[in-house]
Amino acid sequence: MAGQQTAESLAIDGGEPIAADFEVPNWPTPADNSLEYVQECVESGAWCRLNGDATFVETFEEAYATYHDADHGIAVANGTVAIELALRMCGIEPGDEVLVPAYTFIATAGAVACMGGVPRFVDVDPRTCNLDPDAVREAITEDTVGIVGVHFGGYPMDLDELTDIVDEHGLFFIEDAAHAHGTEWRGEKVGTFGEVGTFSFQASKCLTAGEGGIVLTDDDLLAEDGELLHNIGRVPGKPGYRHYVLSSNYRMAELQAALLTAQFEAFPDEFERRAENAQFLDDALSGIPGIEIQPPDERITQRGYANYTAFFDPAGFEGVDRDTFVDALSAEGIHVGTGYGHPLTEQPAVARERLRSMLPEGVDVPFFRHQSLPGTREVIGSRLSFSQRYLLADRADLELLPAAIEKVRDNVEELR
Ligand SMILES: Cc1ncc(COP(=O)(O)O)c(C=O)c1O
Repeated sequence: MAGQQTAESLAIDGGEPIAADFEVPNWPTPADNSLEYVQECVESGAWCRLNGDATFVETFEEAYATYHDADHGIAVANGTVAIELALRMCGIEPGDEVLVPAYTFIATAGAVACMGGVPRFVDVDPRTCNLDPDAVREAITEDTVGIVGVHFGGYPMDLDELTDIVDEHGLFFIEDAAHAHGTEWRGEKVGTFGEVGTFSFQASKCLTAGEGGIVLTDDDLLAEDGELLHNIGRVPGKPGYRHYVLSSNYRMAELQAALLTAQFEAFPDEFERRAENAQFLDDALSGIPGIEIQPPDERITQRGYANYTAFFDPAGFEGVDRDTFVDALSAEGIHVGTGYGHPLTEQPAVARERLRSMLPEGVDVPFFRHQSLPGTREVIGSRLSFSQRYLLADRADLELLPAAIEKVRDNVEELR
């Protein structure tokens, strides 16, 4: 087609990118008080929560637990060890089977294996990207002791179904809420529908200090255990050399908490902007044939967004495949990802011999690779994942996102 391009041609074919001037906000970005609080922490000399009173960590964990409707919060170094700590609080033992989604970041399953458990992978619903309750029911065996579910992208798991299932079977339930800051189910923030909820404050998350995490619980006894376990076996408030359980050091650093405290002050405004922009995208994209949004659900009374997910159907784009569409959209200046390329069952890390080597002698590990996971495979094949940075954009810029999709659709014959 060389020589025939016009300004209206697709950018991938030599035309003008429609969203060339889109100013996508930077992330992470410092809040008003970030430098001040970090400086205050540096100058205070209290660089570890053991060396000060009412430290940044302590204040943050109380504030975050209150915001998330939880009685207790224990701040930790990151979202991965938050899951490990949660599993220990729930009493995981070597060889215990724990159900996890087949579509999630590896940490959800890795934490189970690192604590001596056997992760069992469960299919997800193709549109919520969360544990499919029917698949959970089918996956439960007599060796299953608990579930670590994920509120993927901030869209909450079906907490009606899952809390029924764990009650029926006497399982523990950990909510991996790494993506779900601020998400609500029936008017209550996620994180305490199960025994323990875990969050990540890693750099890509909507509330971040670069790294960080927290576990939340309403259970006083679990909180007591968590305090002890997270502080290398010490009783809170007693920084000496008396250790009541052998454990690791999961503590959050004071400098992390100082930065996080400032970022948390900016969070409510950012949260609102993301939610309003997500609503705009839901309205705009649901009118475009071949693009499907995540299902509305009245039980979700508020939703955080670690990313904005939609789905691509080639039937709306004259049979053009998702990856070709993604390349064309990116050329227009709208950068869209496709999420994880494989179910967790296909990760080299969970190959039978590798996983077996982490577990106690005699614990059997299934051969996961051929597990049928239709929901997971549908997500992998159709997902469009927009960074949450887009949800912080000015509306005039954001309007370019659906406009770019429409442009690709209007000119789809150029891609065939
Ligand atoms: C679903 C999920 N769980 C856990 C984690 C681990 O969090 P972190 O990176 O803070 O260790 C992540 C990180 O991306 C995640 O996406």
